[in-house]
Amino acid sequence: MLRRKFLKNSSMGTAGVFSAPLMASCQENSEENSETEIVKPIVVCTWNFHNATAKAWEVLNAGGNALDAIEQGVMIEEADVENQTVGMGGRPDRDGNVTLDACIMDKDSNCGAVLCMQNIAHPISVARKVMEDTPHVMLAGKGAERFAYEKGFKNENLLTEQSKQEWLEWKKTSKYETIINIENHDTIGMLAIDKNGDIAGGCTTSGMGYKYAGRVGDSPIIGAGLFVDNEIGGATATGVGEEVVRTVGSFLIVELMRQGKTPQEACEVGVKRIMEKNKGRKDFQIGFLAINKKGETGGYCVHPGFTYRVYSEEGHVNNTSDSYIKV
Ligand code: GLY
Repeated sequence: MLRRKFLKNSSMGTAGVFSAPLMASCQENSEENSETEIVKPIVVCTWNFHNATAKAWEVLNAGGNALDAIEQGVMIEEADVENQTVGMGGRPDRDGNVTLDACIMDKDSNCGAVLCMQNIAHPISVARKVMEDTPHVMLAGKGAERFAYEKGFKNENLLTEQSKQEWLEWKKTSKYETIINIENHDTIGMLAIDKNGDIAGGCTTSGMGYKYAGRVGDSPIIGAGLFVDNEIGGATATGVGEEVVRTVGSFLIVELMRQGKTPQEACEVGVKRIMEKNKGRKDFQIGFLAINKKGETGGYCVHPGFTYRVYSEEGHVNNTSDSYIKV
């Protein structure tokens, strides 16, 4: 296992991952052997998805790896029909079709994604299969769906009665407007560090409700909705995907951390970059979430309302993110 000088420059962020007694004993150890790394598992996700982080934590706490924690964690939201922005029960496109996007990335920079895939309830798992079983990174539309069947996934109707009725109501006016913190957007992006200190991430969404058929946002785009570099950390995004794609937001944040910024500082620069590019336009929400190799976390958003959940041995907490616009 790769061992790093972990404690020498460890300054705890929002979700400190070392208990005080452990810190003291670790510091003693680090003086004796600066190569000893004390790694504490942690998982973070966009928004207040308690059940998803609890599942991921269960995997990490049992000694499981970060990739499995990510997949099993976000699957909870994909299966939740009450969540109308992810997986089964997601809002459909303008034509009434639920189309799902997801991506996953591991400690070795392997990644997989599915875009605009219908009739499969767990796009994160199909994305993982793309990563592990094909020479490709992305499969889209019918090709992704066919690949999923080949891998044993079953055909399921993703349009719940509630989402159908709301879509029929929307069709009466077909007015396309985004409502901050509701329709733009509570995608789940999740980042985890396992007991070996390895980082993985995943992101899964049904995208904007009533989008044009074929529309894909940031969530399945490696570098935009998600990026992981096991040497540095990871970042993920929620919100209006078009804005995140334009700045390759998650990659930007990881690169900022590589240059020495904390996760919090990096998320703030990411949001500010988007606001500068938009020259005064403010009618959208973006939330960025980041974690670095030390387990420090940060989040920042355009409008108040974005939260992110942290689960570690310290317990679990839903952090309210600071925002670029204050009211
Ligand atoms: N961030 C999700 C989307 O724009 O589709």
